[in-house]
Amino acid sequence: MRHLMSPLDFSTEELDLLFGLAEDIRKNPAKYAHACHGKILATCFYEPSTRTRLSFESAMIRLGGQIIGFADAASSSASKGESVSDTIRIISCYADICAMRHPKEGAPMVAAEKSLIPVINAGDGGHQHPTQTLTDLLTIHSLKGRLGGFTIGLCGDLKFGRTVHSLIKALVRYHDIKFVFISPEELRVPDYITDLLKSRNIPYEEVIRLERVMPQLDLLYMTRVQKERFFNEEDYVRLKDFYILNADKMALAKKDMLVLHPLPRVNEISVEVDEDPRAAYFRQAQYGVYVRMALILTLLELEPACE
Ligand code: CP
Repeated sequence: MRHLMSPLDFSTEELDLLFGLAEDIRKNPAKYAHACHGKILATCFYEPSTRTRLSFESAMIRLGGQIIGFADAASSSASKGESVSDTIRIISCYADICAMRHPKEGAPMVAAEKSLIPVINAGDGGHQHPTQTLTDLLTIHSLKGRLGGFTIGLCGDLKFGRTVHSLIKALVRYHDIKFVFISPEELRVPDYITDLLKSRNIPYEEVIRLERVMPQLDLLYMTRVQKERFFNEEDYVRLKDFYILNADKMALAKKDMLVLHPLPRVNEISVEVDEDPRAAYFRQAQYGVYVRMALILTLLELEPACE
């Protein structure tokens, strides 16, 4: 039995297979419409979500399976003090696979140790968000045609943004990538990330002004400031609108630069950018369904069902 805790749990060769499957699902959805007949996905979300939970549920329904779950800790027995370990033992009796989001870093790993079914980390605190990373990689692969040979800017909350940490760890396995980290001093990418890049001689630059680096970027990954991870409201209010990507800043970028964002967005991308053909964040959310369909099939070791 296999779980997904980190984007590094799959080799790059396995990711190629996963993305090939996701592309096939995108092109031939009918072929997969019954692949999960009789299977149940549990979504156990101890923290709010729109995209991750609903795209997992949409993925399972599109595969012909069924869903159960809870959308917040308050409506589960966690509110009575039940541990994650006990909860997953129970969920193992009810479902065939579980996607779990939790505010505590490592909680899905604790669950995986006790689980009798595959567990997918759907985001744990400020740590990792591997299925967002799979979504990001599939989007880049599909829209750019490659997973290497580019300069990527990551902008915003690089300290608390778990999608950023997971994406960097995944991208260092590909060739010829330069990272540009764009953040205020207080929200710099953690040292363990820059140490990783140094240890592998991967080029990176840290800057504060987005405008200065826009012309060199092939990809711009915007993030929101993670309000829920701040210890005081005053710091959040001071930093929340530090970056606002607008049409003037987009005018400085390459004609084929793509803007990605894991979403939700707050103010960091002006709505006027949505009409720019380089804005890829809504397409990215759609790719999230295909890659989660491919992931469910892979972890359950299922093939498309014959009609
Ligand atoms: N990108 C993402 O994780 O969005 P949700 O928090 O809405 O799931």
